[in-house]
Amino acid sequence: MNTAVVGLQWGDEGKGKIVDLLTSEHDLIVRYNGGANAGHTVVVGGKKYALHLIPSGILSQEKTCIIGNGVVVDPEKLLEEIQSLRDRDVPVGQNLLVSNRAHVVMPYHKEQDAALERVLSAAAGKQGKNHSIGTTKRGIGPAYADKIHRSLSIRMGDLLDPEYLAARLEVICAIRTKELDALGVETPPLDPAELTRSFAAMGEQLRPHITDTIYTLHEAVQQGRSILFEGANACLLDIDHGTFPYVTSSNCSTLGIPAGTGVPGRHIDQVVGIMKAYTTRVGEGPFPTEETGETGNQIRERGNEYGTTTGRPRRCGWLDLVAVRYSAMICGVTSLACMLLDVLSGFDELKICTGYQLPDGTVTDRFIPDGYRLPQAKPIYETLPGWPEEIVSTTDRDELPTNAKAYLERIEQVTGLPISLVSVGPDRAQTVRMDTTTAGFSH
Ligand code: GDP
Ligand code: IMO
Ligand code: MG
Repeated sequence: MNTAVVGLQWGDEGKGKIVDLLTSEHDLIVRYNGGANAGHTVVVGGKKYALHLIPSGILSQEKTCIIGNGVVVDPEKLLEEIQSLRDRDVPVGQNLLVSNRAHVVMPYHKEQDAALERVLSAAAGKQGKNHSIGTTKRGIGPAYADKIHRSLSIRMGDLLDPEYLAARLEVICAIRTKELDALGVETPPLDPAELTRSFAAMGEQLRPHITDTIYTLHEAVQQGRSILFEGANACLLDIDHGTFPYVTSSNCSTLGIPAGTGVPGRHIDQVVGIMKAYTTRVGEGPFPTEETGETGNQIRERGNEYGTTTGRPRRCGWLDLVAVRYSAMICGVTSLACMLLDVLSGFDELKICTGYQLPDGTVTDRFIPDGYRLPQAKPIYETLPGWPEEIVSTTDRDELPTNAKAYLERIEQVTGLPISLVSVGPDRAQTVRMDTTTAGFSH
């Protein structure tokens, strides 16, 4: 049984926790998109791990973790992550494979990313409108842009061939220096010799991990071994299907799996859609159910809603089921995991958005995947009663407060999907299995 785990909102839904839980039922865990912009948290027995590039399955022994060809890899960050895991006695060796076709995030990509954001927000001063995206400044957009542009990109396999790397960097540095200059970056010209030296050295360190992962995956499929695909970022940040241009630069929906791993979609047997019991977003972009006052603060503080990668406070608001239902449709979700339900304890009333009102007065239950048009939509809410009880120690669905059960049932009704799992705290153990017969949550 091959499973995909994917975020249905704007990221940070708790994918890391679910991937870690599902790892025991799979043999290989594969990242297919994004890069070090992701921050996936796994908490095991009080120990907290934050994974950025390495699949969350790495914490389980005897599993093969793969960074697929669709990921953009920052080798420096990857080596740091490997070291920090080893420092905590998590073995990282042949259990981690990196596609030789994954594109490399270079230092100049991070400079470009930050500089473009600076230029865009400075331009906002004159126009009164901020056009910056609020990126993680991890060089993601510029690295994917180079991939699509072709002529200036470097792939992980290239790091193993210093002669070829040097020749590429000679051309790239000449062009990139001028581009950085145009963006107002005051740095000395890029030095191809220095970059070749440092990236070839990192390539040498990563050599044991770099391979043709497409064959590894297809051999696994043939042998009947099971694969868990770990989505990074989330469906509403998908470059094609998210709130463009306030998105990331990859196909983070499950539609990115075939291209980002080389495994055809027909091998994906089930898709677990991860959703928070409310909504959060980091960075710029529309968020119809955002609560900028007391309610938002209460959610942020109870949910500790601060970014795993950048530490930025996350914007918080009510659950938007128009958005979740849309993402579930795009991703082919077969069951839902509803995360952070514990955060909603103590609210007298809870709101769920089930439709949008448009400027002409019409009402729609369709999402508007467009960064400039979505702000015109006003959420239409249903109000449900809250529950005062803390539920962080609940592991049995029958022990959930009646109003919490009603909240979950309403989610199932509106989305038309079963909730197979409810999370009531960050730890592996703080999990309520709703349907023990659903494949993937059977243990
Ligand atoms: P991801 O990017 O989707 O893996 O999610 P993040 O790790 O960025 O953010 C989710 C945060 O919520 C992390 O700090 C988790 O430890 C935490 N978390 C996950 N599930 C729960 C839950 O059910 N309740 C609470 N209170 N925290 C949770
Ligand atoms: P995980 O996997 C939340 C957001 C950024 C920004 C936009 C573009 O932890 O859920 P980028 O650096 O990718 O060019 O930024 O996308 N973003 C995320 N937000 N969680 C993530 O990943 C994100 N990855 C990107 O905040 O708004
Ligand atoms: Mg995250």
